[in-house]
Amino acid sequence: MPALDLATEARLIQAALAARDRAYAPYSGFHVGAALLDTAGGVHAGCNVENAAYPQSQCAEASAIGVMVAAGSRRIMAVAVAGQGPSPVTPCGGCRQRLREFAADHTPVLVADPSGLRLRTTLGELLPHAFGPAHLEPGQ
Ligand code: THU
Repeated sequence: MPALDLATEARLIQAALAARDRAYAPYSGFHVGAALLDTAGGVHAGCNVENAAYPQSQCAEASAIGVMVAAGSRRIMAVAVAGQGPSPVTPCGGCRQRLREFAADHTPVLVADPSGLRLRTTLGELLPHAFGPAHLEPGQ
């Protein structure tokens, strides 16, 4: 599987940062954006959307997945997450599982903040020994 070229990486990070600028996070004040690269080179972005009934809030990654699936794509080739804090804002546990539905262990995950790329990892590093769609295939 070819490595992500730098221009695509930059495009994905920019999309995550732009989505982060539109986050609706009046309760936590913690703005997050996510962008997903699909197999056709398309980029699908989303932000966190909070709710006065706090548990009804949605993470940026979940928003981006909804955008991607609604656009007709079902395969994630790379992920960018944009946040800001003392340590890189990696996807929460639930979102690691959500991403795993459409991505693989080797899928690159780029973690950025407004200053640029902070961490380059993979979904397999974030969610080792993942449970995924293959577990439900007949004969498994
Ligand atoms: N958040 C995300 O959008 N993605 C993550 O992976 C981590 C957390 C959001 C949820 C909530 O709106 C805010 O960040 C604070 O937890």
